[in-house]
Amino acid sequence: MELKGKRIALGVTGGIAAYKAAELLRLLVKQGAEVRVAMTEGAAHFVTATTFQALSGQPVFIDQWDARMPNAMAHIDLSRQVDLMIVAPASADFLARVANGLADNLLTTMALARACPLLVAPAMNRQMWENPATRRNVARLQADGIGLLGPAVGEQACGEVGAGRMLEPEDIVEAVQAFFTPRLLAAKKVLLTAGPTFEAIDAVRGITNLSSGRMGYALARAARHAGAAVTLVSGPVALPTPAGVERINVRSALEMQTAVMARAAASDIFIAVAAVADYRVANVAGHKLKKDAGGIPALELVENPDILAGVAALENGPFCVGFAAESHDLEKHAQAKRQKKKVPLLVGNLIQDGFGGDENRLVLFDDHGIHPLPPASKTTLARQLIEHIAHLTGVA
Ligand code: PMT
Repeated sequence: MELKGKRIALGVTGGIAAYKAAELLRLLVKQGAEVRVAMTEGAAHFVTATTFQALSGQPVFIDQWDARMPNAMAHIDLSRQVDLMIVAPASADFLARVANGLADNLLTTMALARACPLLVAPAMNRQMWENPATRRNVARLQADGIGLLGPAVGEQACGEVGAGRMLEPEDIVEAVQAFFTPRLLAAKKVLLTAGPTFEAIDAVRGITNLSSGRMGYALARAARHAGAAVTLVSGPVALPTPAGVERINVRSALEMQTAVMARAAASDIFIAVAAVADYRVANVAGHKLKKDAGGIPALELVENPDILAGVAALENGPFCVGFAAESHDLEKHAQAKRQKKKVPLLVGNLIQDGFGGDENRLVLFDDHGIHPLPPASKTTLARQLIEHIAHLTGVA
């Protein structure tokens, strides 16, 4: 419920992507936002107002002179009592009208009369997007402080391929969440590790663990929403890259160490969330080991470098945050790890809470004491942890 209490006006213009606006609305409502929908007559050719009404639980407006508004001022009522106005999809025609201050239907009038920020998610044929007139209009909208979400590049409804697809609803919701997040880490560079490592035994087998990457990815998103430039060094996981985050895929602890050490000195904050294998196999076979090769193969293990301790030891290195997943005696083990790795902040979680799943329970250990956070989704905990880090690093 990251958007709980937020009031949003969702404008929908005519275009095949209008059907995606229904999913966008559903996701915004699911996040707790109170959404009022206004659509153009063109949009009503693609999706009915009934769909949006059912999903928002609110009346939907198309006509500026709708008699349901007692004062006949739908444009004022709908655009003034909201924290944000989003138009998705935003057609080339709508962008042109808003860029030029025209107000000839409910939606364009709302855009002109609004007292809140406006985000637009363009959707149109690639030639229309590339047309110099659209380029001019978009430049003018941006100069006027209107936020541009996309468009994405890809296959279009007309069969052509290029820039002009509306961003996926999930990506728009992500941008909306970022919009409402205070920029606590603006101009900061945050480096994170996430997920498990995979230490090869032979060409197809390896040693790994059950880290899903969810905690680390949630933190990467939260840091990005807080305005940081984020680099995520990720072990093998099946998660999409958070929008705006630079992702570097690695497999083994040694690859993770190389990727981290190449960037650590230039980072302001390093958050080690990855469940890194403590040991790797010394005698990795380049081929698939055969069962009938005779005897049970013996694995010789060697210790992996401690990436977090290595970064914490850098002179003028980043502010370091470590994680510890323990099965018992969380406080004792977490405090010991904090001292051993010499990090100012250590985040403890129990393995039964932390590994996999969308929820977790975190306890923060720092110079000021012990701070347990209430059990919550990894998304919520990530936001709270970023706030705590911003506080400790003196930027909030
Ligand atoms: O990915 P999820 O399914 O969401 O699960 C999240 C998590 C449980 C993996 C995460 O919240 C977590 O606790 N990660 C740390 C796991 C752990 O117990 O790490 P550790 O005790 O082995 O290491 C302590 C710290 O040193 C960690 O920050 C780790 O990233 C770091 N480390 C460890 C070993 C090593 N060779 N290099 C390191 O940088």
